[in-house]
Amino acid sequence: MSEFFSLLEEIRNESIWKKKGEGLAILQRGFSNIYSTAKHSVPVGNWDTVSYSHFTTEVPGAKVPDRNNLDTTHGQAVFFHAIVHIEYTAIDLALDHAYRFRNLPEEYYRDWIQVAHEETLHFELLLKILHSLGYEYGDFPVHSGLYQAAKRSSEDLCMRMAALPGYMEANGLDAHAFLSSKAARFPWQLQKAFLEAMEIIARDEIQHVAYGLRWFRYACHQFGRSELEYKQLVERAVPGAKFHRKHLNREARRKAGFSESELALFA
Ligand SMILES: [Fe+2]
Ligand SMILES: [Fe+2]
Repeated sequence: MSEFFSLLEEIRNESIWKKKGEGLAILQRGFSNIYSTAKHSVPVGNWDTVSYSHFTTEVPGAKVPDRNNLDTTHGQAVFFHAIVHIEYTAIDLALDHAYRFRNLPEEYYRDWIQVAHEETLHFELLLKILHSLGYEYGDFPVHSGLYQAAKRSSEDLCMRMAALPGYMEANGLDAHAFLSSKAARFPWQLQKAFLEAMEIIARDEIQHVAYGLRWFRYACHQFGRSELEYKQLVERAVPGAKFHRKHLNREARRKAGFSESELALFA
């Protein structure tokens, strides 16, 4: 059996998504056994190439195709491609949270493997919709905002937890209602598949953010940092991060564990 962290690195770097999904399903099912092989002293390797770069073209955020033209199949495919890309990236990010940060409680690793596994399910649900429109993942250019934020926070667990699950994924909680409202513009079959996928994603994502905030607070406590650094940490990992929200999903954010003073940052 491969050593736990080496296996995580291998699955994170895997660019054939069927293999990535299978690797993760095995890892999640046999977690305790596989985790028993963990050697926390195994060196953390560089993460210079993100796995999707093998089948996508990367462009700056401002140059990704317009996602608001939902009246044509092409426009709908652009919209779904963008969400497929976020879910795919989320798989590698969760794996990287687990791979990179060492000597933490077993629960930390278990949580992120579960998240990575759930992200593969989200990815597959949305990929199926993209396929039904006649398109493939990689057909449109993508941006690397999430990966860049992960790179900037690769030395600091507090920053990683604040910026990725605690900010970027939490943004998804606010976007849920807005995205779901787009469904009305889709043909009936597509509408049904999309809303079913969004229901599963909304439920799981509250838990993902909850894990992020839980480990953010743990890391702050453990390393003598203050949870009040949240906003500064996010701004360092995500330059230009915006905090004001038109539609703040207070209910979902409260369920995920945001405090009232943290919620006030987004008002
Ligand atoms: Fe997801
Ligand atoms: Fe997630």
